[in-house]
Amino acid sequence: MHVSDALRSRISSNSFDTTASLTEAQVADLVRLAQEAPSCFNIQFTRFVAAIDPATKRAVMAAAYNQPKVAAAAAVIVLTGDLRAREGFVERTRAAAAAGTLPADVAERMIAGTAGYADPARAREESLRSVGLSGMCLMLAAQEAGLASCPMIGFDPAALSAVLGLDEAHPPLMMIVVGPAAASTQARKPRMAPEQVLRIHTVG
Ligand SMILES: Cc1cc2nc3c(=O)[nH]c(=O)nc-3n(C[C@H](O)[C@H](O)[C@H](O)COP(=O)(O)O)c2cc1C
Repeated sequence: MHVSDALRSRISSNSFDTTASLTEAQVADLVRLAQEAPSCFNIQFTRFVAAIDPATKRAVMAAAYNQPKVAAAAAVIVLTGDLRAREGFVERTRAAAAAGTLPADVAERMIAGTAGYADPARAREESLRSVGLSGMCLMLAAQEAGLASCPMIGFDPAALSAVLGLDEAHPPLMMIVVGPAAASTQARKPRMAPEQVLRIHTVG
C-alpha cells in the first residue's frame, strides 16, 4: 500500500469487529513501525502500553468515559511520554561511544545539547510532539495491515494511569484503538481546501 493510499483511506473508525483479537506479536509489529517515527535527537520519548484482553480493555474503557470502541476494538494502545527519556539517551549515547560506533566528542556534544530535556516540562512538551508522530505512524501501519484505528484523547489521565500502573514520569498522552473493522458505511470526513490552510510565504 502506498503511503498516499493509507492516508486517503484511513478514518477514525467507529465500528470494530468485537469478535476479533490481536496477538501480542501483532501489536508488537505495529509498535515496531511506530518506533520509526523521528524524535528530537532520537531521544525517543514515546512509550506504549497495550491492552488486548477483554477485562483490561473494559477497565481502560471505564477510564475513557466509557467510549464503547475501546472495548470493541481488538486492542487499545496507550501512548505515554517518558519524562526521563533523556537518561536512557545519555546511557545509549555513552554506550555507542564506548563501542566505537560514535566518536566520543560527538557523543559528549549530543549529551550536552540535550541537557534541557532533563527538565520534565520540556520533556513533556517534546513527548507530545513525539507521541503525535508515533501515533500517526502506528495508524498508517495499521491501515497497511488492513486494520481500522482511532486516535483518542477522551480519557481521564489520572484514572487511566491508575488502571495501567503509570507513574508520573509516564503521562498518558493519547490512546489508539485498533483492530479489524466491522462492516460499516462510515463516510470519510472532509478536509478544508489546501488554499484555506496553506500560505506560501516569500520574503521581499
Ligand atoms: C488528539 C485526538 C483526539 C481524539 N479523541 C477522540 C476520542 O476521544 N474519541 C473519538 O471517538 N475520536 C477521537 N478522535 C478522532 C477525531 O474525532 C477524528 O480524527 C476527526 O473527527 C477527523 O476524522 P478522521 O480521523 O476520520 O478523518 C481524536 C482525534 C485526535 C487527533
